[in-house]
Amino acid sequence: MFKQSFLPQTLLLAGGILLTVAVLVASETGNIRLRESYNDVIHSQRVQTQLAALNGELVNAEAGQRGFLLTGKDSYLDPYYQALPRINGLMTRIRADYASDPEGLKLFGETSKQISSKLNEMALTLLYGKRDLSVALDLVRTDYGKQTMDNARRGLDALQAREAETVAHRLEGAERDVQLSRYGIGLLTAINIVLLIAVGLGHAKRLALSEVARSQAEEEGLRLDRKVRARTRQLSALAGHLQRVTEDEKTRLARELHDELGAILTAIKLDLHWVRRRVQESHPEAADKLTRVMLHVDQGIQIKRRLIEDLRPTVLLNLGLRAALCQLVEDVAGRNHWESEVSIPDDLPRLRDEAAIALYRIAQESFTNASKYSEATHVRLSLGHTETQLTLTIHDDGKGLPPDFDAGSTAGHHGLLGMEQRVAALGGNMEIVSSPNAGVSICVEVPLTASVLAPADEPAEAQPE
Ligand SMILES: Nc1ncnc2c1ncn2[C@@H]1O[C@H](COP(=O)(O)OP(=O)(O)OP(=O)(O)O)[C@@H](O)[C@H]1O
Ligand SMILES: [Mg+2]
Repeated sequence: MFKQSFLPQTLLLAGGILLTVAVLVASETGNIRLRESYNDVIHSQRVQTQLAALNGELVNAEAGQRGFLLTGKDSYLDPYYQALPRINGLMTRIRADYASDPEGLKLFGETSKQISSKLNEMALTLLYGKRDLSVALDLVRTDYGKQTMDNARRGLDALQAREAETVAHRLEGAERDVQLSRYGIGLLTAINIVLLIAVGLGHAKRLALSEVARSQAEEEGLRLDRKVRARTRQLSALAGHLQRVTEDEKTRLARELHDELGAILTAIKLDLHWVRRRVQESHPEAADKLTRVMLHVDQGIQIKRRLIEDLRPTVLLNLGLRAALCQLVEDVAGRNHWESEVSIPDDLPRLRDEAAIALYRIAQESFTNASKYSEATHVRLSLGHTETQLTLTIHDDGKGLPPDFDAGSTAGHHGLLGMEQRVAALGGNMEIVSSPNAGVSICVEVPLTASVLAPADEPAEAQPE
């Protein structure tokens, strides 16, 4: 679509181009006229020169005639004889030059007649003069010769004046054309300046508009960026909250299972014992059945214990993070036939329950992943700390993350994502280091802030006994 804002500028450009073309056409027409005028001036000047030469040759011929008639000497006739062919030549050329000028040709025709009469008069007087000079002089005295010469001269002068007028007229026209051409160039320059200014202004306006659009886009980008950051913070906080709620729920469930189900199962077992003792003698088959039922109750108690342990590791609650991690490594290493290494200092600072559970769950998920994917033979867990931060590293020597795995993004992998969110909720950061056949290292750094450390007066997560 053609933008409305470009319309005036485009119209201006089109108008400018049309005007420029018109001025160019006018200027070219003027140039053509100038060239024609120049040619006409040259032509007129040549005719003028030829007319003057013809006049001169006539005078020469007449002077020769007169000289001979006065002196009777033949030598005076030289100019006359020399002038005759020249006069004929000049007349032919002048006639040819007037070929395209009917009026000039007509005028020259009349003058030619006078010249011919003059030439005839001269030829006649010379013819008589060669026989008898006095007869010839009498003929001259009739003034016929003078009249024809005057007529011829007048004709030639009139033609010359006509040519001079043509030259003047042409020069005047040329002057006008030059003037017009000058105005045309001036107009062209003015049009170009106006167009340049219009285009420049349009360009500047577009630049300003695009600058405004760019800064608006930049602002919008910043606004969206801020929004995304705020939303990410909210989501992290929500994830942390959900994890806390989940852990609390798990603790509550574990307690219920332990207290309620545990009590019921124990009561069932005791009652079954009692009944079995009573019926042992009288109904041995029923006693056997009861023994099998008691075995099932024992299995139920085992399952309940395992469930409670999964929900809330009692060792973590009772013996603290250090012991819980040691036991976790021992368990998973035993199950997976791994060699294992644990490094945890004795002076581990006391942590809040949530922090201890988060670190335990991270270690748990790391080992679960290692057992599922790594094909490792050796695992290592090390927990260290400085004054300000706690560092947990879990390493396996397996095949490493798949080559197409993007370690920078944990999206789509809930285990690693959950670990990251737990670490983020503690204000720390997590790094996954892996290379093919060199295993995977999960490195967690958590700042030892008030939300991680247990308050001094509160016996937070239990210490090793
Ligand atoms: N120790 C490891 N060795 C090799 N590959 C691993 C290891 N840990 C994770 N991976 C790879 O990273 C992927 C992501 O792990 P993550 O724990 O996030 O998801 P998951 O185990 O596939 O699913 P979930 O944990 O939600 O049950 C895994 O599918 C696996 O390909
Ligand atoms: Mg996993």
